[in-house]
Amino acid sequence: MKTVPFSFDLRSPDFIPSTYDNHIKRTLSAMKGQYLDQQAYNQLLARDDALLYEVYEIKRPKVAGELLHGISIVHPGKVGDEYFMTKGHFHTVLDTAEIYYCQKGQGYMVMETPEGDWAVEPLFPGRVLYVLPRWAHRSVNTSAGEDLVTFFVYPGNSGHDYGTIEAQGFRKLVIECDGQPAIIDNPRWYQPGRRYSQERLSQPENR
Ligand code: F6R
Ligand code: ZN
Repeated sequence: MKTVPFSFDLRSPDFIPSTYDNHIKRTLSAMKGQYLDQQAYNQLLARDDALLYEVYEIKRPKVAGELLHGISIVHPGKVGDEYFMTKGHFHTVLDTAEIYYCQKGQGYMVMETPEGDWAVEPLFPGRVLYVLPRWAHRSVNTSAGEDLVTFFVYPGNSGHDYGTIEAQGFRKLVIECDGQPAIIDNPRWYQPGRRYSQERLSQPENR
């Protein structure tokens, strides 16, 4: 690990940092249960465990005071009508924020709190997005045939909680509808404590 101030370049080639310590690759099989159209997911996976996104990290100690940073690249594509996206996560230390700076492509950051508040913010080159403490976040690439490239930076002690999103999904999904991105409710979103059975019981009966 570096012990003197350091810098690196982001713009070439293909926005891959000129130096990095870790290269994470996430393929379709890592997203089991996350896409709405399970049939399309299974069909795609049977053909190819496609590379959905990659992360290049600069290694720093995972302690408060340090800043973890790097580049995230979500490739273009869809599972059914739903765009390629990251797994998404809460930070384990909920009260830690994150900054994203979009360098290339078009997309959205889908966000929500443990209480179920949600926000979906556009990403495009030059846009800085501040993800507030407590907000889970997932980036979605809606570009036609182009990578979504973002620079991210967050506190060293944040940690990642993937399990909560894996279990309950995000409240909102970004899908293609009539050739345009659309934000829809996730019918499979589950929030602990919500009174599901009562809602179901209070549905009017079909005669
Ligand atoms: C770090 C962060 C990003 C993501 C990256 C991949 O806290 O938010 O670096 O880790 O965009 O997404 P996930 O981690 O959700 O697979
Ligand atoms: Zn994060």
